[in-house]
Amino acid sequence: MTGAEITTARLRGERPRVEHGPLYEDLFGSDAVAATLWPAPHGGPRTPAEAHELLAQDLAHWQDEEFGPWIVFESAAGARFVGHGGLRRGLIEDEAIVEVLYAVHPDAWGRGYATELARAAVQRARELTVTEVVGFALTTNRASQRVLEKAGLRFERTVEHARLAHWFGRLTL
Ligand SMILES: CC(C)(COP(=O)(O)OP(=O)(O)OC[C@H]1O[C@@H](n2cnc3c(N)ncnc32)[C@H](O)[C@@H]1OP(=O)(O)O)[C@@H](O)C(=O)NCCC(=O)NCCS
Repeated sequence: MTGAEITTARLRGERPRVEHGPLYEDLFGSDAVAATLWPAPHGGPRTPAEAHELLAQDLAHWQDEEFGPWIVFESAAGARFVGHGGLRRGLIEDEAIVEVLYAVHPDAWGRGYATELARAAVQRARELTVTEVVGFALTTNRASQRVLEKAGLRFERTVEHARLAHWFGRLTL
């Protein structure tokens, strides 16, 4: 089973490529997205160079693993850009984790896309026999907590992540 692509009822995700740089710039340079991912004093919207560094991290992740974050489009005609998300390895308080993550472009908010993507990521983790997934959201980001809950994660504790208090949830698969 390869995690390189994903299709859901309305979305199609693919392994990021260098050519996706402008989409990373658009998404992670957005004030609205940055407000939930990196609020002051954590840098705010990413510069184009920083967005390309995020892409480089994803490219490296995909070289090392059989899964990673996808770049996501509507599967309908037009294939409008939706955002970024999937599965990513990380460390939290010295524990090796597989994180469910997502960032949806503000033009596509409110349609259930984050939930659809998070559920697809959990399903892919099951197929890859990952034994558990975790998720983070700022304690103030109720919408994102809701997305994680709807994907099956349950609140475990509040953690300091990137120097901010985060809701931390887990799902054993
Ligand atoms: C948070 C985010 C992922 C939501 O994306 P989305 O596609 O609009 O989300 P969905 O439509 O799938 O679902 C959002 C859920 O949160 C709820 N919600 C939305 N805004 C809310 C708010 N201000 N307070 C409480 N719940 C809210 C929705 O009602 C929905 O739940 P419901 O189906 O039970 O009604 C999107 O705003 C985003 O990408 N933000 C920037 C990046 C980010 O926050 N990433 C997550 C960091 S871990």
